[in-house]
Amino acid sequence: WNILFLLLAGVLSGGAAIIKYITDYSNADGKQPPGPKPLPVLGNLLQLDLKRPYNTLLKLSKKYGSVFTIYFGPKKVVVLAGYKTVKEALVDKADCGINSFIFLQRGYRVLWSNGDSWKEMRRFTLTNLRDYGMGKKACEDKIIEECEAFDTTQPMNYAVSNIICSLVYGSRFEYDDPEFTSMVDRTNRNIQLLGSPSIQMYNLFPWMGRWIADRRESEEYTKLNNKQNMKLFSQLKETLNPQMCRGFVDAFMESGVTNSHFSNENLLITVRNLFNAGTDTTATTLRWALLLMTKYPKIQDQVQEEISRVIGTRQVQVEDRRNLPFTDAVIHETQRLANIVPMALPHKTSEDVTFQGHFIKKGTTVYPLLTSVLYDETEWEKPHSFHPAHFLDKDGKFVKQDAFMPFSAGRRICLGESLARMELFLFFTTLLQHFCFTPPPGVKEEDLDLTPRVGLTLNPSHHKLCAIPRL
Ligand code: HEM
Repeated sequence: WNILFLLLAGVLSGGAAIIKYITDYSNADGKQPPGPKPLPVLGNLLQLDLKRPYNTLLKLSKKYGSVFTIYFGPKKVVVLAGYKTVKEALVDKADCGINSFIFLQRGYRVLWSNGDSWKEMRRFTLTNLRDYGMGKKACEDKIIEECEAFDTTQPMNYAVSNIICSLVYGSRFEYDDPEFTSMVDRTNRNIQLLGSPSIQMYNLFPWMGRWIADRRESEEYTKLNNKQNMKLFSQLKETLNPQMCRGFVDAFMESGVTNSHFSNENLLITVRNLFNAGTDTTATTLRWALLLMTKYPKIQDQVQEEISRVIGTRQVQVEDRRNLPFTDAVIHETQRLANIVPMALPHKTSEDVTFQGHFIKKGTTVYPLLTSVLYDETEWEKPHSFHPAHFLDKDGKFVKQDAFMPFSAGRRICLGESLARMELFLFFTTLLQHFCFTPPPGVKEEDLDLTPRVGLTLNPSHHKLCAIPRL
């Protein structure tokens, strides 16, 4: 029965896909962005590296230009490549209809969609996270006190996630609290699963869902995290005191009295957004930073020399950043090279759009290819190397670069940018102030692999480092 069902579903969805292909492809009025010729149903899948699609897209942009069409199976996607084009679409023509989002996974709302709900939730979240000290609590002293070789994944995730906990629930967790560690571990595993080729196939051919184990695993984690969050919300509700708002959840519950957007469902989605978007991203960037410091010990020495000279042994403060130009440049260059969100989040045109002479139909998925901005050969002197001098002038002063866009740009720019930047600075500087990072015994610096692991965000491949105390 399973095989029969599979065949029937395949034929039906194949038929629908062929009709869609014919209407999409042959009815295009000739002005749609160019691109490789797709096959029916499969589109350009055979040409795509599904594990690292952004690499294929980068190559295709060299052939087809900065606005091109590609078919992920039956799904048509318009890709925007290069700093100038991405900036034009997201910033200069912010109202041209390219700034809606689509859901990342069928059935589950991973991020807010569009319209009123997005506007209201984004505004509320930003205001309240700022009120509850977005970034301020990041000063907490969360230093890893191990000097043996260790895997940086979990300590980084727990430390960064605890900052979101402080803002959202109003309190932090202990690192050995299973309620906390299981929630963080599930969130991170989910982000890895969402980028897996099998879940991407499921998004393209939903009838396959039944057979995809990664999807079942991911849904199970989402359900368990929802359950745990609901438990935390009800504990907070029982002790709610309008005179003393502890964090974001309290503020949300109080607003719910007067406004229909403040439903339990939206609270859950918003809190999940903050955890999904705010833990793995910052922790991954920090792991890249430590890996790069270990691989390039001379640069690590320069950072540590600057920290010792300017800060000494006292606690690092956010205001120290302007006196640490080299350290700041290293953090920026880490974000540029690590390129952790290579295709941003999928956008969708909310109306018919004519962009750079191309016609893009309402409802088309658009990928702003951030890789092509961060590695743009016309913007960066050494786009594929770790070169902190990209952010320094000839006198060693820090210089901003317009093509530095790891948080994307425009109306849908990362909501947590200011928090993330503060966290990256405080964690990185504090860690380098206290520890010297080296490869584990028997491993040479040149053996450290910079190839990213497959996932929705680009993590370093599994590795271990040694942290040797300096102070
Ligand atoms: C180094 C860390 C981070 C990076 C590189 C990053 C990057 C991004 C990118 C590229 C987007 C998509 C924008 C687009 O498609 O145009 C995004 C969206 C988002 N980020 Fe971040 N992010 C980081 C940290 C955070 C943190 C700490 C939070 C939470 C406080 C956060 C919350 C969000 C949210 C809620 C959205 C969706 C915004 C919307 O729907 O309007 N991010 N981020």
